[in-house]
Amino acid sequence: MADNGVLPVDKLTISDTVEEAEFSQRVLIRSILGRPDGGAGLAGKTLRVGGWVKKGREQGKGSFAFLELNDGSCPANLQLIIYSDVAPLGQFTPTGTCLHVEGVLQMPPADKQGKQSIELKVSKVLDIGAADPAKYPLPKTRLTLEFLRDYVHLRPRTNTISSIARIRNALAYATHTFFQKHGFLYVHTPIITTSDCEGAGEMFQVTTLINDSEKLEKELIKNPPPSQQDVDTARAAVKEKGEIVAKLKSDKAGKPAITAAVAELTKAKENLSKVEERFNQKPGLPKKDGKIDYIQDFFARQAFLTVSGQLQVETYACALSSVYTFGPTFRAEHSHTSRHLAEFWMVEPELAFADIEDDMKCAEAYVRFLCQWLLDNCLDDMEFMAEKFDKNAIQRLKMVASTNFVRLSYTDAVTILEEAVSKGHKFENEVKWGIDLASEHEKYLTETKFESPVIVYNYPKGIKAFYMKVNPDNKTVAAMDVLVPKVGELIGGSQREENYEVIKERILENGLPLEPYEWYLDLRRYGTVKHSGFGLGFERMILFATGIDNIRDVIPFPRFPGRADL
Ligand code: 4AD
Ligand code: MG
Repeated sequence: MADNGVLPVDKLTISDTVEEAEFSQRVLIRSILGRPDGGAGLAGKTLRVGGWVKKGREQGKGSFAFLELNDGSCPANLQLIIYSDVAPLGQFTPTGTCLHVEGVLQMPPADKQGKQSIELKVSKVLDIGAADPAKYPLPKTRLTLEFLRDYVHLRPRTNTISSIARIRNALAYATHTFFQKHGFLYVHTPIITTSDCEGAGEMFQVTTLINDSEKLEKELIKNPPPSQQDVDTARAAVKEKGEIVAKLKSDKAGKPAITAAVAELTKAKENLSKVEERFNQKPGLPKKDGKIDYIQDFFARQAFLTVSGQLQVETYACALSSVYTFGPTFRAEHSHTSRHLAEFWMVEPELAFADIEDDMKCAEAYVRFLCQWLLDNCLDDMEFMAEKFDKNAIQRLKMVASTNFVRLSYTDAVTILEEAVSKGHKFENEVKWGIDLASEHEKYLTETKFESPVIVYNYPKGIKAFYMKVNPDNKTVAAMDVLVPKVGELIGGSQREENYEVIKERILENGLPLEPYEWYLDLRRYGTVKHSGFGLGFERMILFATGIDNIRDVIPFPRFPGRADL
């Protein structure tokens, strides 16, 4: 026991690897309820917990109250029982109230033991953060995920969003574990970039020109610009001061007099350049030859938010072998689908000395590792997801963790889809060789035909990015997409074109300018290496794991057309 009689936290950790709540005197609820005996063995211990009330009800004619407390460490709530002689009860019961309390763990009465393995009898209230039930936006009734999107700042307090947050955290940890275990080096690629990786022109621009021009407009109203006459006067002053200096010099005047006159001249020159600069300032965006003059922008050139860290991470792969980047990426696509965000996270490994086969092997091993990780580390949250959202969620993880992915060339995939059409299956989008597979086609392959993840490879070169390796048939590229049930495309990747001449030609063929890619071409000019990589859409992985329908609910702060809260 610590001095104050409260059980020391180190006696309550359930795992040897995580030093839970090491920085606080309180004990995580997971450390109690997450034990194999549900915490029953801790009966009689005094400890502190903190959390938010999910449900509270007064009982025994107001002599005591039951409170269900959740601290986000696990889906389960700890039941608190508090008697009115400790504190007035009404303040504790509203949903959303924050409580920090001390108490003794005890077995609930025999007739309640099925539901609760252990409860905390509160002896002291340390802190309380009230929530006015008349105003709190998240009452205890079940709220739709769509409704909760209007409260991104409060929705982490709901069971669903907190479960998703823990699953997301686990997948990020699993990602680093997988790549570190396989010798990959984590590289931070830039968020602001001057090259368009996918060449699709879906980039958000980063500029200070608009702010600057708004500021200037305001400033010009407050402080009107100088007139031509002001400029002429300033110019005349320079001339006059110059003449004085010249005269003093020719008269062989003393040094102090010349120095003073030169100082006057310098001042006049400075004034002239200021007046001229302000005279030339025009409201609106700076233009040159009728086009926006980006030389005057922050980076002295056009800049964007990255759509993918791939091109930059390739520079490290071509020096350090196996690397990966994991960060936010941005796409200004105007798609309102349940699978697209304007800001999403991507995991992008890049393997040197690796071809498309190695790439597929790595992608499959990684996805299977993630699924097994959730089964091993997040089963309580997954059970919640299975109960509330998708009864197949756990089964799906088990299936993916234990089955080999189907591999199919694009050409074979199209043949299968054409066969389906000939047997009467209706697709909205026409099926023929050369099309980009639509989400209904991907669904058919993974959900109807194979009921398994499918890797489609060797896509037509016309529908894929310039950097993909052209196959000997000169019609297809060594690209691969990992398609999974429920979500469709989870991963997009390829072997990269390492031949200098070919990739240069591909840039031009795609109508892209060479200049911004010169550094990328250098990787092929000097010490080129066969290399491959892929990008996994992190939110798509969470959709796949949880069975949640809309991607806007699996990222803490969703950004999509028309919406960027907080
Ligand atoms: O297929 P994509 O566009 O591939 C790339 O960006 C490559 N540069 C990756 C690489 O080879 N390093 O995107 C990769 C994945 C997709 O398969 C999808 O899962 C996800 O990123 N993704 C999106 N996720 C959410 N919202 C969007 N708007 C997305 N666009 C792509
Ligand atoms: Mg793709």
